[in-house]
Amino acid sequence: MTEKFIVQPTGPLRGSIEIGGSKNAVLPVLAAAILTGQNCTVQNVPSLSDVEYMRCLLESLGAKSILHDGTLTVDTAAINSCEAAYEWVGKLRASFLVMGPLLARFGRAKVSLPGGCAIGSRPIDLHLKGMAALGAEVDHSHGYVTVTAPKRAGNAVAARKLTGAEVYLDFPSVGATENIMMAAVFAEGQTVLENCAVEPEIVDLANFLNSAGAEIRGAGTDTIKINGVQELKSTHHSVIPDRIEAGTFMVAAAITRGDILLTNVMADHVKPVIAKLKEAQISMEELDTGVRVWHEPGQDIIAADIKTLPYPGFPTDMQAQFMALMSVAKGTSIITETVFENRFMQVGELKRMGADIKIESRSAVTEGVPQLAGAQVAASDLRAGAALTLAALRAEDITEISGIHHIDRGYCRLDEKLNTLGANIRREECDVGG
Ligand code: EPZ
Repeated sequence: MTEKFIVQPTGPLRGSIEIGGSKNAVLPVLAAAILTGQNCTVQNVPSLSDVEYMRCLLESLGAKSILHDGTLTVDTAAINSCEAAYEWVGKLRASFLVMGPLLARFGRAKVSLPGGCAIGSRPIDLHLKGMAALGAEVDHSHGYVTVTAPKRAGNAVAARKLTGAEVYLDFPSVGATENIMMAAVFAEGQTVLENCAVEPEIVDLANFLNSAGAEIRGAGTDTIKINGVQELKSTHHSVIPDRIEAGTFMVAAAITRGDILLTNVMADHVKPVIAKLKEAQISMEELDTGVRVWHEPGQDIIAADIKTLPYPGFPTDMQAQFMALMSVAKGTSIITETVFENRFMQVGELKRMGADIKIESRSAVTEGVPQLAGAQVAASDLRAGAALTLAALRAEDITEISGIHHIDRGYCRLDEKLNTLGANIRREECDVGG
């Protein structure tokens, strides 16, 4: 059985909501725990199916983990396998992030190719370019890629070790930056990563690694330097708040013409979303307790153009949610997706709710309409599902959203949290694909 949301028309959402820990920060941190071979404690861990998948993958390698009330202890001492099976990588693309840590710690890693997903082909060429630059041999066979560090000549125990190198990333890939940074932690000498990603999640990962004894400088800039060390030790880390969950709730306040205070949010991490919402004439205020987002009665929500870009540009993970808002804004919004090649999966479903959107190459031209209609729609991926939920809050009658397992991957109880603000969303079992 799968589940669907039944979303009743709603009035303005009002109240306060605490933003949870970042999915895209906690997943690389859990992979990085492999490097310590010790017991690590990670706090502010969101309760998401993607986190469960990562835990299952680590346990399939021999690690042990306990998650209780947002605190996860993970012990990677007993890891006895370097093979990340298709069973897990197929379910969670981020599983591919165990490659760097396994290669660094054991000198070898065999990881299933992650394959594509709804939003694009998701290649891993930059990850492998980095591993090869550090001296690893890269082999592909039967849907797996195996990376092996060279034996160090002269060592009594033929330890396999990588050698620091300069790596230039053709594109500031988040995953490639994370994977190569982790692979370089024990490499001989210094690794310089150039044109790397600068997302807050990269900084959080570097902070975790440095707290365990790594020597990483420059995270958050386009050049990261990693000086190889001998080993890492047990550490304790609290994950940054989820900037995409924060942006999603900001749009929820805007699209329902409500008034929401977001707590446990790092406003700096959501600046591009705040800027665009202000351009759309949504009121925003940064307070000591968080960020307040509200719609001034009588104020039109006006169309604003966006172009998704790597951080600190407008995040691709907020494109679908912003499109839902622009579908009921005054005027025409041009939304250009530059990061992924197929991230307009929500367009067809929004049009079934009455939105007026035309795709022209990598842009979606959105003409705001006064009102959306309820419909039966299907979530195709995580952020498209969030966008349909937001649009349903604004629809004039009932909307049914199937495929909400996509939403549960990256949002902790999105329906329940929206209901605490005045929404009326019911979760119902339905036939597969229903
Ligand atoms: C991370 O994915 C996030 N996932 C994504 O969030 C996010 O959309 C993306 O970064 C961009 O910000 C996690 O952190 C777990 P990329 P990642 O490598 O690392 C191309 C969500 O909704 N590329 O920065 O896979 C790639 O094709 C998810 O929470 C290569 O060409 O993203 C894409 O066009 C979705 N070769 C672009 O880079 C490579 O080797 C960005 O990909 C790697 C990537």
